Amino acid sequence: MQPQLFTSSLGRLIGASLLACSLVTLSACSKNEDTARQKQIEEPPTSTEGAAGTADQPEKSAPMADKGAPESGVDYHSFANTSDYVVKHLDLDLTADFDNKVLKGEAILDIKRLTQKNPELILDTRDINVTAVRAGMGDNLQPVKFTMGETDPHLGTPLKIKLPKGANRVAIQYQTSPGASGVQWLEPQQTAGKKHPFLFTQAQAIHARSFIPLQDTPQVRMTYKATIRTPEELRAVMSANNDPEAELDGVFEFEMPQAIPSYLIAIGIGNLDFKAMGERTGVYAEPELLEAAAKEFEDTEDMLEVTEENFGPYRWDRYDLLILPPSFPFGGMENPRLSFITPTVIAGDKSLVALIAHELAHSWSGNLITNASWRDLWLNEGFTTYLTNRIMQFVYGDERYQMEMALGYDDLKADLDDRDDKDEIMAIDLRGRDPDEVFSNIPYEKGSLFLYELEQKVGRENFDKFLMEYFNHFAFQSITTEDFVKYLDQTLLKQYPDKLDRERIQEWIFNPGIPEGAPQPTSDAFTKLDPIREQWLNGEIKASDIDTKGWTFHQWKYFLDGMPEKLSEDQLKELDSAFDLTQSKNNEIAFSWLMIAVRNDYEPANARLEDFLVSIGRNKFLRPLYRNMVENGKTDEAKRIFEKAKSGYHPLTVKVNSKIIYGD
Ligand code: BES
Ligand code: ZN
Repeated sequence: MQPQLFTSSLGRLIGASLLACSLVTLSACSKNEDTARQKQIEEPPTSTEGAAGTADQPEKSAPMADKGAPESGVDYHSFANTSDYVVKHLDLDLTADFDNKVLKGEAILDIKRLTQKNPELILDTRDINVTAVRAGMGDNLQPVKFTMGETDPHLGTPLKIKLPKGANRVAIQYQTSPGASGVQWLEPQQTAGKKHPFLFTQAQAIHARSFIPLQDTPQVRMTYKATIRTPEELRAVMSANNDPEAELDGVFEFEMPQAIPSYLIAIGIGNLDFKAMGERTGVYAEPELLEAAAKEFEDTEDMLEVTEENFGPYRWDRYDLLILPPSFPFGGMENPRLSFITPTVIAGDKSLVALIAHELAHSWSGNLITNASWRDLWLNEGFTTYLTNRIMQFVYGDERYQMEMALGYDDLKADLDDRDDKDEIMAIDLRGRDPDEVFSNIPYEKGSLFLYELEQKVGRENFDKFLMEYFNHFAFQSITTEDFVKYLDQTLLKQYPDKLDRERIQEWIFNPGIPEGAPQPTSDAFTKLDPIREQWLNGEIKASDIDTKGWTFHQWKYFLDGMPEKLSEDQLKELDSAFDLTQSKNNEIAFSWLMIAVRNDYEPANARLEDFLVSIGRNKFLRPLYRNMVENGKTDEAKRIFEKAKSGYHPLTVKVNSKIIYGD
C-alpha cells in the first residue's frame, strides 16, 4: 500500500504543479491567475482571499509524506499540470471498431498556456496506445516527442508531451484498449433487440482518460466538437447537440458549445430511435424499449419546468434521455443534454422516476456548478439529492416527497452503520484511493440532509432564493467545499445569524456521523406499516390478511427493508406465496427481497437471484447482493455466478465486485 500511495502522491504533486511552482518564484506563481480553477472561479463578492486550489497552494500541500489533511482544491486523481496549461476545447474524431473493441482516431486539444516557461504538457491516460503526437499553433502542427510515464494503479499513465514554444494546439493519435475502464462494448445478445452491438462510455469519476487523452480533472472545463464513425446501421449520440434526424450513414457530427468537465463527455452507439416527450425533452432507446420508456418518463418535461421555475433557468438547451442496456453500472449518469439511464427503472408505474429527477437536477448541481475534486463530490450529489426530493414533491405531491425523503434517510443510517468514521465525512479524504471503491450514500444522503436542515432553519422560501442565487453565482464553475462554506458565510450565515452558525456547518461537513438534533425525515405512509409488520412477525395475522392493495413501491420497500435479520423458512414461504416476491417485476422490490432471501438461505429464490445477478449490471444492486452472499457463507456460489456473468459486466462492475468476492 505504501509504495502505491507514494506513486499517486507523486503523480498528484506533479499534477498540482508543485514542482513547476517551486521552480518559479512564488510571486510569479501566485500572480498566475489563470490556473484551471482561478480562471473559472469568480470570487464571491466580499471575499478577500483568492479561490482555493490554485497555484499558490502547493506550499500548503508540501508535507505529503505525513499526509496531514487533504488540500482543498487539489485534484489528487489527475496527473495534469493544470497550473501550466489548461485545455479549452477538444476536437475528437473517433471510429468505433466493434470487431476489435477499440476506439481509434485523434483528439486535438486547444490549450491555453499559463506560464512564461515552457514545461511539458502532462495529460491523463489509462490503457491508451498513443501512436503519434503533433503540436504547434493553429493548423501548423508538427510531430513532437512524447513519453508515457509510470503507471499508477488508480490513476493510469501520464502522457508527457514536449511542446514547441508558443504551441497552443496538440493533436494525439491513439487507440483505446478493449478493456478500457470507461467503455463497455456489448454483444447483440446483451441488448433489447439482440441484433446489433452497443457501446456506451461512463467517464465519471476518472475514466474519461481511458478513451480520450486529456486533463481528466473536474477543475478544467472545455467545449468540444466530435466526429464519431460507426457501423452504418447504428446511431451515435453524445453529451452534446444530438440530432434525432441525423441520417444513418456511419458518420455523426456533434458540438458541445457549453464548457464541461471531462467526466461529462459521453458517447452512446446502438440501434437507437428517438421519441419526443415534450418540447425540450425526448428519449433515445432501442425500438423495443422506446414506447415503454417514453411513457414511463413522460413527466420529464414537467420536472424540467418546475426545476426552472424554482431554481433558475435550464442552461443546456435540450434534455434527452438515453436508455442503455441493463449492464449499465449505474442507475443514471447526468451527461449534459443526454442523461444515460438504466432500463431497470422502467417499472411500468413511474415508481422509480426519482432517478430521472435526480439526473435532471444535476443540470444545476454538478453540471452547472461542479465539484472541484472528488473530495467535493457531496456538492454534486448532496445538492442533487436534495433537489431530487423537491422535484418529486412539485410533480407528485407531499406523500411521495415524504416517502422519498424517509427512504433516503434510512439508506443513510444503514450506510453509517457499516462505514469507518473517516469515510462518513462529507469532504472525504480520497488520497491514494480509487474513487470507485469509496462510493457510498454519504455524499448523497448526508449532503441532502444537511441542506434540508438549512432549509428548515431559514425557511423554505428563503432557502430557495439562496439556491437560485447560488446556481447563478457559480454557474459554469468548479468549486471546492471551502468555496461553498465561504459563500455560505457571506450569504445565509450573514442574513440569519440567529438561526445558523459556522460551527454547526463545520460539524456537518467535517465530522463523521449525523450531527445531533438533525432532522429525521419520516412518512406516515410508512409508520402505519410498522404495526402491521410487527403483528405478522408475532403471528397475530397472516400475510394473506394484510391489505396491500394500493401500496406503493416505496411502502413495499419500507415493509421489506424493515424485516429483522432472521426469518424462518415458513415465514419466507408465507410472504412469498402471499405476495409473489421472488417474481416481482419491480427490480427494487426484487432486490430488497433477494437481500432477505440470501441472508436466510431461502432456496426457492436462488434461480431468480442468479438471473438477477447475471442480467443486471447496476452496482447499487450487485455490490450488496454479492457482499451479502460472501457474508453468509455463499462465496462459492457468488464466484460461480460472477464467473458466468462476468463477460457481460461492465469493467467497473467486474472491478468492484471481484474485490468483494475474491478480496483482491
Ligand atoms: N453521477 C452519479 C453517478 C456516479 C457518481 C458515477 C460518482 C460515478 C461516480 C449519478 O448521478 C447518480 O448519482 N446515480 C445514482 C442515482 C440515484 C441516486 C437516484 C445511481 O446510479 O444509482
Ligand atoms: Zn447523482
